Amino acid sequence: MISKRNSTRRWTKSCQNEKGEVFSKIINIPKVSCLGKSINFGWLDFKITNRCNNCCTYCGVEQDPPTAQEKIPIEAIIQTNKAAMELGFTFFAFLGGEPSLRQNWNAIFKPFTEKRNNCHLLVITNMKHFNEDLYRALFGSKAASAYLVASIDRLTMPNYKYQNSQQVLSDLWKIQDLTQAYSSDDHRNIQVHSVITRENFTEFPTLVEFFWKRHVSVSLAMVEPLKIVDGSPQYYNEFTKDELGHIIQHMRNLQQKNMLKFPNQILLEYLEQHQAGILQIKHCLAGKEHVIIESDGQVYPCLTESYRRGLSFGNIIHEEFNEIYGKLQGFTCRHPLTDTCWDHYLWNRLGEHVRRG
Ligand SMILES: C[S@@+](CC[C@H](N)C(=O)[O-])C[C@H]1O[C@@H](n2cnc3c(N)ncnc32)[C@H](O)[C@@H]1O
Ligand code: SF4
Ligand code: SF4
Repeated sequence: MISKRNSTRRWTKSCQNEKGEVFSKIINIPKVSCLGKSINFGWLDFKITNRCNNCCTYCGVEQDPPTAQEKIPIEAIIQTNKAAMELGFTFFAFLGGEPSLRQNWNAIFKPFTEKRNNCHLLVITNMKHFNEDLYRALFGSKAASAYLVASIDRLTMPNYKYQNSQQVLSDLWKIQDLTQAYSSDDHRNIQVHSVITRENFTEFPTLVEFFWKRHVSVSLAMVEPLKIVDGSPQYYNEFTKDELGHIIQHMRNLQQKNMLKFPNQILLEYLEQHQAGILQIKHCLAGKEHVIIESDGQVYPCLTESYRRGLSFGNIIHEEFNEIYGKLQGFTCRHPLTDTCWDHYLWNRLGEHVRRG
C-alpha cells in the first residue's frame, strides 16, 4: 500500500479507515543463545496483523486496509508464541499494522494463560478501535506483566496520528479501570509510547508530565530515520543540531525531575553520543536476543533488516519458529555504516539491564 513517488523520500500511501473510505496521502519521508538452550533476555517484536485503520504521517510500515485478509493464520501465531516461550524469550511486543483489529485474543494469549510464567506482554495500539476482548485477554493472562501501550504523541489536535485526543484519553482511562479487576499491583496497566518528531519536539515534556502525574509511564522514541540537517528542516524526521540539543536538554530536565523511566534514559544516552559523534557498534545480538516477525510471517534479525526487506530467515506460516531461530544464530550485521543504529543500542542496553536484574 506504499508506493515510492520519486527519489526524494516522498511517498504516497493509500489508506482506508474502518468505514471503508479510501484516502491517500503524501508523506515525507550475554548469555545467549544456542538453539534449545534457555536465553535470559529475548525480545520478540511480533507484527501480528498486516491490517491498519490509520495513516500516520511518519509511518513506513507496510500495511493493508482493515477489509483485507489476515496474512498470518491464528494457529501460526499461537505456535510461534509457544515456541518462543520455550526458547526462553521473555518480552513479547505485539504490534502490526493495528493489533486491535485482530480477533481471537484469548487464543493468541493461550500460551501465556495456561500457567503462571515469567513473560512480559506489551500490545501497542493506536487507540482508534476499542477492543475490550483484547484488553481482558491481555490483563487476564498469567504473564508476569501485561501492558496495553497507547501510542500518543500529542495531547492536542491536529496530530500526526490523526487521533481525537479527548476520545483517546477517555478510552485510555476506561482501559485502566478494567485492569483493577485483574491485579492490585502495577503489573497490569496502561502505558504510553510517544514518538518525537518535528511536530512535538518542543512540547513532548508536557505530555510526559501529564501522564506522570496520573501514574502512567511514557516511553519515548525518536522518529526513524532520524536526520540531522544543516539547512532548514522540512520533513517530520529532520532536525538541526541545535534542535537535537534542545531535545536532549528537555530530556535532561525530565531526568532531574525523576520523570525519565529507564528506556528513556537509554534514549538520552544514545542522543548524547549521537550528538558527540561517538556511537559505535560493539557486538550486535540481533537475531539472538531480539527477533522481528513481519506481518506476512517473514522473520528478520532486526528492524533495519525488516524495513529493508533483506534476507528473511524463514516464515512462521510454513516453518516452526525454533527452526528459523536456529538459522538466525549465524547472522552478523551486514550494514557497515550502522554505527548509529538505535535498535542495536536500545536492545544491547536493555539486555544488559535485564541480565543484571
Ligand atoms: C508501527 S506501530 C504499530 C502499532 C500501532 N498501529 C500503533 O500505531 O501504535 C508501532 C509504534 O511505532 C511507531 N512508529 C511508527 N512509525 C515510526 C517511525 N517512523 N519512527 C518511530 N516510530 C514509529 C508508532 O507510533 C507506534 O508507537
Ligand atoms: S496506526 Fe500504527 S501501523 Fe498504522 S499507520 Fe499509524 S503507526 Fe503505522
Ligand atoms: S547493528 Fe543494527 S542493523 Fe546491524 S544487525 Fe544490529 S540492529 Fe541490525
